[in-house]
Order: sequence, then C-alpha cells, then structure tokens
Amino acid sequence: MNLSLENIINEKTATIFQKLGLDSRFATVKVSDRPDLSDFQCNGALALAKQERKNPREIAANIAAELEKDDAFSKISVDGPGFINLTLKDEFIAQNMDDISQDDRFGCPKTTAPRTVVMDFGGPNVAKALHVGHLRSAVIGESIRRIEDFYGNKVISDVHFGDWGTPMGMILAEIIRQDGNLNKADTYDIEAISSFYKQANIRCKEDESAKEEARRITAALQDGNPEYRKAWQHLRDVSVAAVKKNYDELQANFDLWLGESDAHETSGKIVNLAKEKGLAEMDDGALILRLEETNKPMPPVILIKSDGGFGYQITDIATAKMRYDDLKAEEIIYVVDKRQSLHFEQVFSATEKLGIAPNVTLKHVGFGTVNGADGKPFKTRDGGVMNLEDLIALSKDKVRSSLPEPNEVEGFGEKEIEKMVSQIAMAAIKFQDLKNNTASGYIFELDDFAKFEGKTGPYIQYAIARINSILRKADTQPATVIITNREERELALKIAQLCSVINRAEAEKEPSIISDYAYVLAQTFSSFYNASSIMNAESPQIAASRLRLAKLVRDILTLLLYLLGIEAPEVMLKKANA
Ligand code: ARG
Repeated sequence: MNLSLENIINEKTATIFQKLGLDSRFATVKVSDRPDLSDFQCNGALALAKQERKNPREIAANIAAELEKDDAFSKISVDGPGFINLTLKDEFIAQNMDDISQDDRFGCPKTTAPRTVVMDFGGPNVAKALHVGHLRSAVIGESIRRIEDFYGNKVISDVHFGDWGTPMGMILAEIIRQDGNLNKADTYDIEAISSFYKQANIRCKEDESAKEEARRITAALQDGNPEYRKAWQHLRDVSVAAVKKNYDELQANFDLWLGESDAHETSGKIVNLAKEKGLAEMDDGALILRLEETNKPMPPVILIKSDGGFGYQITDIATAKMRYDDLKAEEIIYVVDKRQSLHFEQVFSATEKLGIAPNVTLKHVGFGTVNGADGKPFKTRDGGVMNLEDLIALSKDKVRSSLPEPNEVEGFGEKEIEKMVSQIAMAAIKFQDLKNNTASGYIFELDDFAKFEGKTGPYIQYAIARINSILRKADTQPATVIITNREERELALKIAQLCSVINRAEAEKEPSIISDYAYVLAQTFSSFYNASSIMNAESPQIAASRLRLAKLVRDILTLLLYLLGIEAPEVMLKKANA
C-alpha cells in the first residue's frame, strides 16, 4: 500500500492535471520550502506555462480551483508567479498516521519493477588484515545493500576477494626465499602470512629482480602450477577466515565469497572476444584494448600484462560478464574508494565496447578517505595504518568507560553490558561514517563520536530507548491520532516523509540521506515530547494519540538505523556520575 502523503497528493494533482487536459508530468508536489505558508507545494504551473506559452498564474488558478473541492486540504493558495501552496487538514494527516502505524512497511510499498542488483563491496585482499580503509566500503556497502533490499530489489552481494594479483606471487616468493621451498606453506596462520607479505613489500620496493620473480610466480600460479596453487589455496583460506570474522562483527552480509581468481577462465574468454572483434592490439609486450577518449585522456585497458598474467582491469571486466551471465544482474554497484574512479570508467567503457553485459547499469559509488586530525588518511600513533580490529577495540573502550560496571545495574551483568558496548560502539563508528556525503572524506573523531548528544549514532539509539521507556511506563495503549498542537502536526508531517526519503537514498545510493532524516526525526520528536506531555495529557484520548505517534517514531527510527546497519539496544545505560 502506498501511504506516503507526498504520493497521495501527487495522485490527486495528477488527476486534476489530466482532467484539465494538462501534462501530468508537471503535477508533482514537493514538501514546502516555506513550512510557515504550506505543507506541500506544486510548481508545475510555471514550467507548464513556459512550455505552452500561457500565463502561469491563470493555469495555477484553474488547478487551485479544482484542489479546493478536495476535502483533504484546509487551504490552497496561488502565490508569486504561480506557485500553488497546499495545506492539509489536521484530520487528514492524523488519518494518515493511523494508516501507516498499521502497516509493517509504514506505507512504503515495494517497487513494482524489481531489479536484480549485484553489490560489490568489501574488496578485502589475501594476507591483509582489514584496516580503516576497508571500513567505508563495508559500512556504506552494507547500508546500500539494505536500502536496495527494502526498496524491493533482488540484491546479491559479493565480497570480490583480492586473491589473484601480484601480491600472491610476492608472498609465495618470500616464503620460498626464507624456507627454501613451499613445504611449510600450509602451516602458516594469518599473522605469519601478513608478515611475509610485509617483508615482500619492502624487498620488492628495493629490488627490481625480486619484483620480477614475484611477477613470474604470479603468472605461473595463474597458469595452473600445482605447487603454487596448493600453497595459494591455503593463503586464501586463512585470509577468508580472518576477514569473515571482521565482517561478522561489522554485520556486513555477503551472499557470495567469490574472488578475482574466480574470473580467471572468463578473462581468457574476454581476450578471445576482444581478438575476434578486432579490439585487441599489442603494445609494448602487453595486449591492450583502446578506449574512446571523451573529454579527458582515457588510458587503454590491459588485457594481458607483458609478463603474461591477468591484471586488475580484465578481472573486473570478466567479473561483470559473469554477473550478467550467471546472476542475471541488471545493475552492478561497486562501493570502492573514489581514487579508483578512473579504473571503473575504463572497466565500464570496455564492458560496453565488448557488449558483454548489455543493458546492465554499472555504477561506481566512490567514497572519500577516513582521515586523522591532520586531514591526512587515518594512521596510528606510530604512523602505521590503523587496523580495523584495533579501531573497534579503541571505540569499545571509550564506550565502556561511559557505562556502569557489570552488575552495578540489576539485570546487566558482564554479557549484557558487553552487548551494549558493542551496539553503541558500532553505532558510533558507522553513523560517523554514514552521516556525511559518501564522496567526501571525513576526520575520524574519537572524542565526541559516541556522545548521546549531537549528530551521532548513540543519539538516535538513545531516542529509541527513551521512547521504549515512555511506552513501558504508559498506562494507556496507543490509539487514534488526534492533532491538537503545532508540535504534533510537525512531527506527523516529518514522519510522513519516510517513503520519499528512502526512495531518494535508493536512487542516489546515498545513506547520508537516511542518517540526516533519522537525526531530524529524533530532534522533531524531542520538541514534540517537550511540548506535549503524555503522562499529563489533556485527556486519555490525547495521551493515547501521542503514544501512537511516539511508537511510530520508535519503529521508524529502528528501521532507519537498520538501513544504516545499526542495532538499537532496548535500554541505554549511563554511568551514574557521567
Ligand atoms: N581489492 C581491491 C583493493 O583493495 C578492491 C576491490 C574493489 N572491487 C572491485 N570490483 N574492483 O583495492
């Protein structure tokens, strides 16, 4: 059921436009820019008048005259050059609140044209523990995944493990250098493997021949050398197990754990296809595919590197083909650092040129970096990259210090407190990551990020816990909404924006639209609650109405947090002296 107020009014205006013989594409309304004047406005008469060379005020007056007949409105006015301002009757808004409170999707229907969306996020690599740079892909990616799913699309998430590039050869070469062979390779754990990788990195930076050797081993591995494959399989298994733990903690969900290696065979097919189509050419020992330059230089993609191996680009091209062929993808969303945007432009352009994923929408959601106080990518005190695990531990310590000790509050032992610590710390980290525009970077803030005031995750969690407590203490049940004051009306109109907010976040792939709205809704609730007592309401009916609004806000905030990948605790504790 579509119970979005905006949508209901749109249907009304569209019907009137049709009746008057006007192009109903101009009939859409939006939430008023001037809440002091109206609830919604329709500016279609202006655009229409331009197109038909008519007087906009006249067109607007005709539309307004029809709107007047509809008893949903208390006031219709034509202002300025031809804006139509619409004000709803309180009863109409109240009825809408009753309707959506009875719908488990709060009146937001699933899309009638669901698409199969493949989401590529996470992007971890063999032998590398997740660091702060991986945080954003997981957090933003998971949020978009949930938004797409709620919207009604069929979503398939794939972690796209980095398990096929030169680092593989580097690690194998380093093990061979130190052990003489790969006999012990399958005994190493993630720490040992990461350490080999670090040493290999240093060596390859200094020594061109070590780099050469790593490339040779990578190419042989890709080519099927059984000894290399066996050792590689172990590296991969150990790395997958390690990052799975991280993603579980982040509650990032992946349907598929495929990797770059899974695209190997298809990469071969891509090479053949490019050759058949006459698109492949040799350049300096490498096989390349040239791309059209639009308004900036567009380097060719490398199909086969000069050492004979497949690289990052062809792997992504082949993976797009597999997602089209095997998963029937209609859209593929890549949530990856925006510094990789040229890579994705190249991949998308090559995919189109080869015609391997026809009509598939390819979208790179590029995010900015997580920075330290100096504005540069976040580092630890000693200048190293901040491990994700350490970052989470640090945040938990901070949160733990603001909560009561285990068993200080009845019913909250060690287990309960730790669960709350984790829920609040993750909310703080994730909300901080999701409250800004995806494309911009942000400064990771460890002082205020977990505060209960301000634009933080814990603030929203706290609003939910507060409503839980109100509902527990109330002696009546929530019932029919009656609007009796300005704050109730404003809250109801804010609640009514939910569906359009979610639709916008889906269309723009932008979780910050959800976090902004959650923050404003929590604030609007606060103003409402300060002005409209529930305990001392003017009548039992008014108390019941306010309870219904409160419960609705709680349930909607819970949904919004869910869409951001955040859980809300039932109650929130604070240290006694905090
Ligand atoms: N593993 C890559 C990296 O660490 C990210 C992968 C992103 N996804 C993709 N399909 N290219 O840079």
